[in-house]
Amino acid sequence: MTEFCLIYLSYCRVMAALFVCFMSAISLLFVEGSPILNPNNETTPLVIWHGMGEDLRFKCSCLLLPGDSCCNPLSMGAIKKMIEEQIPGIYVLSLMIGKNVIEDTENGFFMEVNEQVAMVCEKLAQDPKLQGGYNAMGFSQGAQFLRAVAQRCPNPPMKTLISVGGQHQGVYGFPRCPGETSKICDYIREALNTGAYNDWIQKHLVQAEYWHDPLNDDLYKKHSLFLADINQERGVNETYKKNLQMLEKFVMVKFLQDSVVDPVDTEWFGFLKTGQAKETETLQESVLYKEDRLGLAAMDKAGKLVFLKTEGDHLQFTREWFVDNLIPFLRS
Ligand SMILES: *[C@@H]1O[C@H](CO)[C@@H](O)[C@H](O)[C@H]1NC(C)=O
Ligand SMILES: *[C@@H]1O[C@H](CO)[C@@H](O)[C@H](O)[C@H]1NC(C)=O
Repeated sequence: MTEFCLIYLSYCRVMAALFVCFMSAISLLFVEGSPILNPNNETTPLVIWHGMGEDLRFKCSCLLLPGDSCCNPLSMGAIKKMIEEQIPGIYVLSLMIGKNVIEDTENGFFMEVNEQVAMVCEKLAQDPKLQGGYNAMGFSQGAQFLRAVAQRCPNPPMKTLISVGGQHQGVYGFPRCPGETSKICDYIREALNTGAYNDWIQKHLVQAEYWHDPLNDDLYKKHSLFLADINQERGVNETYKKNLQMLEKFVMVKFLQDSVVDPVDTEWFGFLKTGQAKETETLQESVLYKEDRLGLAAMDKAGKLVFLKTEGDHLQFTREWFVDNLIPFLRS
């Protein structure tokens, strides 16, 4: 509201009609605050899963201001607040893996992903507010983790999955660390270079679990604990295929100037062609799609896949962009 008033007020100053402006701003406040927008008070709950280290980045307040081109760092708190403002009455569950923010952040780097997914499944199954179904929004690695939740845990049902800068075909490179955790990133880079498919590293380093090396396809398929499993690389698990197709919509957001995710095609489920590390292929060109091993081709034909793109680096978007492009998927 304040931001709206600010725009409105500066406009009004120009018009030299401050009083009129003030009055109309007030009347708008009442329209927006009234139950007209949401007559039955029926909103679909939302589950959010943040990316790596994201919750350490509590600095951003600019997301709450209009016209700003930031927001990296962004905080899940700001996102949650913005959604609650846009959709009055919505229940938003921002997942924390562990007992506190520190544990949650560490687990984003070091806790086996399959274990994290199982923990989340249990949490969702036990939350009485989610039993009628929920929407899900994952940021960065949180996006592929939530897809695993959809594939493995159909109860309660996930309705729409929004992937914001997710890496659905993994990454091959770790060019820049988000946030201010550069020491951890140096360690991760070294570990990935030494042996991403070493079984011990797979179990203890989250980023290794979605490391996708196109030059070592056999190693990837055989040893990738998480990504190769949910992407049906070792065989087709019909349950995964059936569960994923129960989504009403699967929305994937790609950041056009992303300097953190390599290759950026992975945000739309594309990747490097196998056997080399230069040329990329789209989801539609991939074997996964052509053989429809995961149901994505069927979902595409049914109009369930939505590909969105936005200018900006990893997870950088304006409030306006978020409200115009993502909020509509969350209104029921
Ligand atoms: C609307 O739903 C929210 C969340 O379930 C609840 O807390 C609130 O009391 C409800 N409001 C009305 C007017 O029913
Ligand atoms: C397929 O996925 C389901 C759900 O996670 C799991 O229970 C089952 O064991 C998997 N089947 C195979 C063959 O991996």
